[in-house]
Amino acid sequence: MLEQIATAAYVVAALLFVLALAGLSKHETSRAGISFGIVGMAIALIATIALAINHEIEPVGLALLAVAMLVGAAIGLWRARIVEMTGMPELIALLHSFVGLAAVLVGWNGYLHIEAHPEGADTLAMAAEGMLGIHSAEVVIGVFIGAVTFTGSIVANLKLSARMKSAPMMLPGKNIINVGTLVVFAALTAWFVIDPQLWLLAVVTVLALLLGWHLVASIGGGDMPVVVSMLNSYSGWAAAAAGFLLGNDLLIITGALVGSSGAYLSYIMCKAMNRSFISVIAGGFGIEAGPSDDQDYGEHREITAEGVAELLTGADTVVITPGYGMAVAQAQYGVADLTRKLRERGVNVRFGIHPVAGRLPGHMNVLLAEAKVPYDIVLEMDEINDDFDNTAVVLVIGANDTVNPAASEDPSSPIAGMPVLTVWNADNVVVFKRSMASGYAGVQNPLFFRENTQMLFGDARDRVNDILAAM
Ligand code: TAP
Repeated sequence: MLEQIATAAYVVAALLFVLALAGLSKHETSRAGISFGIVGMAIALIATIALAINHEIEPVGLALLAVAMLVGAAIGLWRARIVEMTGMPELIALLHSFVGLAAVLVGWNGYLHIEAHPEGADTLAMAAEGMLGIHSAEVVIGVFIGAVTFTGSIVANLKLSARMKSAPMMLPGKNIINVGTLVVFAALTAWFVIDPQLWLLAVVTVLALLLGWHLVASIGGGDMPVVVSMLNSYSGWAAAAAGFLLGNDLLIITGALVGSSGAYLSYIMCKAMNRSFISVIAGGFGIEAGPSDDQDYGEHREITAEGVAELLTGADTVVITPGYGMAVAQAQYGVADLTRKLRERGVNVRFGIHPVAGRLPGHMNVLLAEAKVPYDIVLEMDEINDDFDNTAVVLVIGANDTVNPAASEDPSSPIAGMPVLTVWNADNVVVFKRSMASGYAGVQNPLFFRENTQMLFGDARDRVNDILAAM
């Protein structure tokens, strides 16, 4: 009886997960989407624990389960409470690594339970049904996807948190390394299915760990948003593989939902950024190291906050293009005040938002909404790009890669082809940043040296406040 109730609960949870994804696709319904997800996960957990108790789990097992859940929930709540908006992508990357590691552990556990005991009752029963080979394939594939996800996500976390250089690692023959590893994996999988030896599984695990590391390390900072969503997809497939091993239908459904939606999101992002989907998922396949960037761009000009205040007072149209630096400085409130002041004086102020400005999709929109900037003056890149010709002043606040003319003008640039905000077409451009350092993709920005550009150095929040004071 309990089994039937648990199966019904799994179906309800799966439906709630579908509703969660549907809700999350629009910001008006995203809160409802999150609530569906939470309720679905609570139902799934209760049903799984009830099933475990029904299968007469030993008291030690039950105690371990309870302790693991309590510790996990406490750490999860703590991290979610303290995480800054700018730290979200790296936290998400770290969470993906846990899914990968879990899939590796489930796979190894499956092996130790079945294949490691050829004469065991469960193994003989499975062999009699002709299912042993399928089980072995599930083990080795699950371990492979899980291990790639595990190390790939750790590298993504290190790159996003700037503990590892964001520039792509360029090993000689990197494409051959990636393809070669896949071929070796396919051969080892066939071997393991025929003769499931411990050492084979160990070799597959090590290969997959190295491949995950190499795949993500080979991708440059500019493509990181796509990598995070791609790892999200991999973590889904790793969970689905674990679901097959554990015979858990809900895990298979959930994994497939995460896997396919993550893959689709990666595809949409690649299209938006004019990148090749295949190249990104194959660890920068086809991208070779460009010439080193030691070009002399000339001198840059500086401006003071008072100078910017004067420029703004005389302007009729102003466009603000914020980026990651606005989030770091938490300058959105000052920016909102500045916007209000200028609008009161009759200046036409609008915002231009690049699809990957900041460190996660929608980052800038959330910050501006938080500071109560009206929605109708916050425009997408495609809506504003044609208007820069008729703009008196552009304020680039803590953005760099997203306003880099090299993306459209220099075919050898690592971000060549990525659509950018064409701010340089305006009469005056003021760039707020603390130094001449490059942006996330690690490339120099010729915008800073253009004749109509002036640099306003310092923390973006301080400088915006200085401008407000000067006005
Ligand atoms: P970035 O290219 O990273 O540039 C941010 C700029 O802000 C830097 O040049 C930095 O210069 C400046 N800055 C940092 N802190 C500041 C502060 N307190 N005050 C003033 N300026 C400050 O940012 P972007 O233009 O928003 O481009 C986003 C980049 O991140 C892209 O390469 C994108 O691919 C990548 N990325 C995006 C996502 C998503 S989905 N949005 C996810 C991961 C990665 P200084 O150090 O000189 O101040």
